[in-house]
Amino acid sequence: MNEFRLPYPRSKSCISNPGNVKALVTTPEWKLFSKFSMLSEEKLLNLAKEALKVKDLPGAVAELGVYKGGSILLLAYLLPDKPVHAFESFQGLTDLTDNDKVRSHPRERGHSHGDFSINRKDARRTVISRLKAAEIILHEGLFVDKCMLVSNEKFCFAHFDADTYQSTKDFLEFFYPRMVPGGRLVIDDVAWEATPGVEHALNEFMNDKPERVEMIGINQAVIVKKDIAAANDRAHLPLQDRLAQSGMVDFFFSRREYPERLDTFLSRATKSIEAVAVSFRLASEKGDLHGVLVKKLTSIPDFRIRLSLLQPACAAANLLARELAIDPSVLDKELVNALDDLDHLWQSMKPTEQARFELLVHDNLPFGSSYMLDANEHTGLIHVETKLHATAKRESFGFRVCGPSDFYTQNYLAWTAILNASRPYRAR
Ligand SMILES: C[S@@+](CC[C@H](N)C(=O)[O-])C[C@H]1O[C@@H](n2cnc3c(N)ncnc32)[C@H](O)[C@@H]1O
Repeated sequence: MNEFRLPYPRSKSCISNPGNVKALVTTPEWKLFSKFSMLSEEKLLNLAKEALKVKDLPGAVAELGVYKGGSILLLAYLLPDKPVHAFESFQGLTDLTDNDKVRSHPRERGHSHGDFSINRKDARRTVISRLKAAEIILHEGLFVDKCMLVSNEKFCFAHFDADTYQSTKDFLEFFYPRMVPGGRLVIDDVAWEATPGVEHALNEFMNDKPERVEMIGINQAVIVKKDIAAANDRAHLPLQDRLAQSGMVDFFFSRREYPERLDTFLSRATKSIEAVAVSFRLASEKGDLHGVLVKKLTSIPDFRIRLSLLQPACAAANLLARELAIDPSVLDKELVNALDDLDHLWQSMKPTEQARFELLVHDNLPFGSSYMLDANEHTGLIHVETKLHATAKRESFGFRVCGPSDFYTQNYLAWTAILNASRPYRAR
């Protein structure tokens, strides 16, 4: 039986939304990916999630460390329109150095020369035909000897799963400069006792780079390539052009300049509203905020709301009260009232609506508040507001930024990080 009848030759995958990645596990194709991969289900899903985020970017896809092909088959399946390059020597791990030596760990001994080799001709041939069926371009041999064959390509996604210091270094040196802005490098076996060389090379390489290395799961990291060249070029442009390129669509020197009330602004959303605020007040005139929230949840079947307000009586609330020159108990009362009102609203809803409305609290001071409409990492509209020391609330100033742009994504990630770290208000 041809094991590749499904899902190859490559065609559109049924999953295209990173938020929906768990549904992959229920597809018939999933068995194939997990059977031929050493990665756990969790790691394969993280990889898939990252891959789907680049589906609209230009550039090719690559993997160093293919072994039996599971992870690269998954990538080829999820990104069917892109060229996919596989780098594999079939010799296993060959380039272990001093940096790969496991030091002082009670159980972990680390990898050895030749681990994961596929030497038998037949076994190798099976993997090769598997990749061919999936239209994956195989570069058989050591990565350093083969990578220059694709030196003129740009990449939107590169996965590293080759375990050693030298391979990590070679991978980063080759792919990092060839990634398109927004492109993703996913590195496996970071901060794992058995593969200290990977983290060592990663830290060395990223030391002078502007991107952060972000952990996306146990021992799995991602680097999202920034558009530094464009940012440098932009620095010479007139301010108006820079603002347009960064997705800035409005700036308000005071609340008096807002073109609409908060409820009218929020009513523009068609998919979701997310907010991080002190007590859910943007304009002096709030309007019928609750009415807008209810209308959205009841009239749009998968509409989602996530609101995080400041936790009453926390250290940050005390600091804020001092900054606003008000009695902490007055601020606490306002926070409790705002949260309780929203909580009552939640309680008045049907379970199907309640499930799409999260009321959260945070206990830090993020230097302002933010309202995000229909926001994902690349598109949406974000309103940010802040205030100078010792000025009245109505003198708060703010801006609106929409995606896609680096500045939009930076905002999205920062505000979403607060929402993700927030706790449910009165755990239900
Ligand atoms: C951990 S396995 C990869 C697992 C695979 N991604 C999966 O889904 O199961 C590591 C592979 O990297 C290959 N490899 C390691 N260093 C390499 C290098 N410098 N060039 C080419 N292949 C390499 C090894 O032959 C081995 O097959």
